[in-house]
Amino acid sequence: MGIDLNGNVIVVAGAAGDQGRATCAAFAAAGATVVAAGRDSGRLDEVVALDPEHIVASVVDLSEDTATKQWADALLAEHGRVDGLMHLVGGWRGGKGIVECDLADWDVLEASLIRTLQHATRALHGPILQSPHGRIAIISSTGLEKPRATNAAYLAAKAGSEMWLRAVADSYKESDAAAVIGRVMALVTPQMQAEKPDGYKKFTPVEKVAEWLVGLYERPADEVNALIETISR
Ligand SMILES: NC(=O)c1ccc[n+]([C@@H]2O[C@H](COP(=O)([O-])OP(=O)(O)OC[C@H]3O[C@@H](n4cnc5c(N)ncnc54)[C@H](OP(=O)(O)O)[C@@H]3O)[C@@H](O)[C@H]2O)c1
Repeated sequence: MGIDLNGNVIVVAGAAGDQGRATCAAFAAAGATVVAAGRDSGRLDEVVALDPEHIVASVVDLSEDTATKQWADALLAEHGRVDGLMHLVGGWRGGKGIVECDLADWDVLEASLIRTLQHATRALHGPILQSPHGRIAIISSTGLEKPRATNAAYLAAKAGSEMWLRAVADSYKESDAAAVIGRVMALVTPQMQAEKPDGYKKFTPVEKVAEWLVGLYERPADEVNALIETISR
């Protein structure tokens, strides 16, 4: 029997992605009300179908500041509380060198990886602080340990999102809330693994990351606030 999050409201941003789906399912299994957030209602309906009793869809473009504030106000009005923000909005551009890469890639990554995080953490900062155990988490990249020239824009954006979240962690110090960073090299889904049973040896399964995120509710805030932890398979 794992942790019981019945009565808690957990927002999963980027819910329609591979990690988002696994995370919604894991928090739903723990009994939480899960707000599955993303831009595409059709894709979110598929996520709701994983556990309609616990998961609700919430359409929002988190790259829009005003829209994100209105969305957060509406969430609070409807549910009365928010206990977690699992920020799993993704996006990747890269593969070319420092000179060859197109800096338009940076604009895309800054919008999806940094801006959406800024908007969502600002809009939900107060409710997370008021929760008895508010948690904000992102999944970052072990690539930051040894940056590759062919991944410069992506890693610079991930570094920016980590730094933003560490500053959020500072705003939560000596409270019951925590902002936490998990790092993986890459993610693997059960379907990918089934298609290639001997592959993806250094990838982290999305279920393992989801379990790590739910487990943040069993660890004291002062132990996990500002933590950067690698989630291995
Ligand atoms: N995949 C990997 O190997 C890997 C490696 C290291 C770290 N990570 C990180 O782990 C997290 C999850 O990865 P993932 O591969 O599951 O992510 P993903 O599929 O790339 O993105 C997740 C979802 O974010 C939503 N999204 C994008 N822009 C948005 C916006 N402006 N507002 C609201 N939603 C938006 C998209 O859904 P809609 O289009 O439906 O809105 C998308 O399905 C990400 O933060 C990623 O950077 C992933």
